[in-house]
Amino acid sequence: MPGAIYAEGLVKTFGDVRALDGVDLDVPEGTVLGMLGPNGAGKTTAVRVLTTLLRPDRGKAVVAGIDVLARPDEVRRSIGLSGQFAAVDEYLTGRENLTMVGRLYQMSGREAKRRAVELLERFHLGDAADRITKTYSGGMRRRLDLAAALVVSPPVMFMDEPTTGLDPRNRQELWDVIQELVAGGTTLLLTTQYLEEADRLAHDICVVDHGRVIARGTADQLKARTGGERVEVVVHAPEHLTVADEVLRGFGKGEGTVDPHTRKLTVPVTGGAKLLAEVIRELDLRGVEIDDIGLRRPTLDDVFLSLTGHHAEGDADDGADDGSAGRADTDGGAVGRQKRGRGGAGTAGADTGTTSDREGVK
Ligand SMILES: Nc1ncnc2c1ncn2[C@@H]1O[C@H](COP(=O)(O)OP(=O)(O)O)[C@@H](O)[C@H]1O
Ligand SMILES: [Mg+2]
Repeated sequence: MPGAIYAEGLVKTFGDVRALDGVDLDVPEGTVLGMLGPNGAGKTTAVRVLTTLLRPDRGKAVVAGIDVLARPDEVRRSIGLSGQFAAVDEYLTGRENLTMVGRLYQMSGREAKRRAVELLERFHLGDAADRITKTYSGGMRRRLDLAAALVVSPPVMFMDEPTTGLDPRNRQELWDVIQELVAGGTTLLLTTQYLEEADRLAHDICVVDHGRVIARGTADQLKARTGGERVEVVVHAPEHLTVADEVLRGFGKGEGTVDPHTRKLTVPVTGGAKLLAEVIRELDLRGVEIDDIGLRRPTLDDVFLSLTGHHAEGDADDGADDGSAGRADTDGGAVGRQKRGRGGAGTAGADTGTTSDREGVK
């Protein structure tokens, strides 16, 4: 039986550009699919097709059991959409924005107000409820946008790069909110450029590039394909390279590298922060002085490089350099974060929120 979000052979071209080039998806009910890819990969196009905002040239899509092409209005009533095109009205307050969405979906005035209060609290916007949203920070707007998508508790949600451009604190807050939501049984398709985000939130990940799904699996499976985590050491003096290399081999789970110019050694490992501590102790015992040591986990760029042979290319806000998936010195356990289980679906409802084409709200 197809999942809550299902697609088969989706193709969408814009002139010469094949934005979607045969995309298949199947997201079981109550789970999160992370769609990971660089700018221009086709993520937003996929979301727009699945949320009825754009007709594909070819292919089939079924969302919440409803055929997207044949019955778009019904699909709209069963989904929530949030993300790159924020749907809030700048000149209304947070409370007014949420109440308006409720009214749009035929709630009574009283019910709409009640729901607005509930969501404002849940998204930590209670204090700002009566300020116009023009004065909100980026993180607050994202939270309000998410809240707006949840007014009617849709069983299936789409979030298009919900945290792109947010600072780490706001990103963390939004992740918490999303995890809560998913714990309630919502099926979610989330697009992102950040491996760590997919890692934290998604049960399954599909990597897209040039309109195609080039890999899928759990975060751990993808990382394993990319070589998993590595210990990276920079020794203080070149004459220590040989001994350091011996030590690292003792801990390694595969071929390491030694670069005499940078005095840097790397070796694939398993065992996280605990193992790192052991490596440091052993290097110390053997008299190796180190300038730097860290546990490095694959970045989005590593995943891309390994899957496609090219870097995740040319964009302003590339996950590879924001540190989000880079060194994990203090948090070797990020891979084992809890995944929220499945649960019952919410009530039917609707909010596609927007028909705007606006891109790059960063
Ligand atoms: N409305 C459009 N008109 C022309 N080209 C588009 C349009 N929307 C997307 N594209 C192109 O399709 C490709 C995929 O875009 P998009 O789905 O926005 O990628 P992503 O969301 O992964 O960054 C890009 O090359 C983009 O320039
Ligand atoms: Mg996009």
